[in-house]
Amino acid sequence: MATVRIPDKERRFFDPAEIRRELAGIGIDYERVAVPPEIATAPAARVLESYDEELAKLKARGGYVTADVIDVTPATPNLDAMLAKFSREHWHDEDEVRLVVSGSGVFHIHPKNGPIVAIEVEAGDLIRVPAGTLHWFDLCDTRSIRAIRLFQDPAGWTPRYTDSGVDQGYQPICMGPPRPVAGV
Ligand SMILES: [Fe+2]
Repeated sequence: MATVRIPDKERRFFDPAEIRRELAGIGIDYERVAVPPEIATAPAARVLESYDEELAKLKARGGYVTADVIDVTPATPNLDAMLAKFSREHWHDEDEVRLVVSGSGVFHIHPKNGPIVAIEVEAGDLIRVPAGTLHWFDLCDTRSIRAIRLFQDPAGWTPRYTDSGVDQGYQPICMGPPRPVAGV
């Protein structure tokens, strides 16, 4: 389950109902999807095949025409250059849809009216960042993520940068879900 933070208000949300409410409030669609353990390491074609039904529904709903699997690990060539493209504030003329099958990362969303919201995503999180939404993305410490991407434009991922520098003021903190404290 994703965790949500509002850094400027020092607030964190762990409760699924609260998380959905917070994300819906800034126009982000969020769902949980089951990820069988073997899918995390299956070949990309198998991953897409296993979400056939889900992807068909999403395509019909959002007008997406292509899907692929992005696989990022510390061994990915030119990883830092790739991450630098994601981690500056930008928007797209199409939705950014990601179904995470393994790894983790942080989306920062910059709503038009309201504070910046950090969403830490992990396996099983399906997120839609609508076209035009200002956002940026960083990996967590493991520097790995595997996710299905859906595109409305067959040309794929095109970022439009704001060059606002606002992303510099927010650390990509990955905390994961709260852990029980012994003896309490
Ligand atoms: Fe993006």
